[in-house]
Amino acid sequence: MKRIVILISGRGSNMQALLEAKLPCEIAAVISNRADAQGLATASAHGIATAVVSHKDYADRASFDAALAKIIDGYAADIVVLAGFMRILTDGFVERYAGRLINIHPSLLPAYPGIDTHERALQDGVKIHGCTVHFVTPTLDHGPIIIQAAVPVLRDDTPQSLSARVLCEEHRIYPQALRWLCLNQVWLDEHGRVASDRLEQPGAPLLSPGLE
Ligand code: GRF
Repeated sequence: MKRIVILISGRGSNMQALLEAKLPCEIAAVISNRADAQGLATASAHGIATAVVSHKDYADRASFDAALAKIIDGYAADIVVLAGFMRILTDGFVERYAGRLINIHPSLLPAYPGIDTHERALQDGVKIHGCTVHFVTPTLDHGPIIIQAAVPVLRDDTPQSLSARVLCEEHRIYPQALRWLCLNQVWLDEHGRVASDRLEQPGAPLLSPGLE
């Protein structure tokens, strides 16, 4: 069974969804860069080892990433999962875990990389928004896409209501993506593309607004 390390910075609801999904893997540890991350208590309550590596204790990104990698490797992680981890990682770190480092982002990438995705989607008036699980590459929020979920944007949406709708789907697609990786059913090929031996078809089309 593959060994998984999850990196968080805060609430940890995606981490919780992964812990509760009964995935065919061993979640070896949850690591946070913030000692006050709510998700640490959730992980402990699930009997998962936790660690804190505070970015404030390091002079620069490279030394923080080196310390983080040392702890991750101490848990012999096969796959590293970013779940609301709010630090930009160095190219060296990303390359060390190439093909086994994944992230979830609250938009339909490549639209809206970065922060404040729901506010920006509402400002632009898009009618469909969503979330993406992707392999991490050195370009922020731009790696090869494993799975996406789309949700309608409703007329009276606020960033909060839209975020809640997207988050529900995050909690569905992240466990699915990790399950595929754990079972070697999805992988990053030698051309840097997502490959899969699965035969499933896409879900139903989403029209937003719907037709009358
Ligand atoms: C999620 O919206 C995730 O997509 C983004 O940060 C948020 C983390 O939420 N990367 P949580 O800590 O998993 O609850």
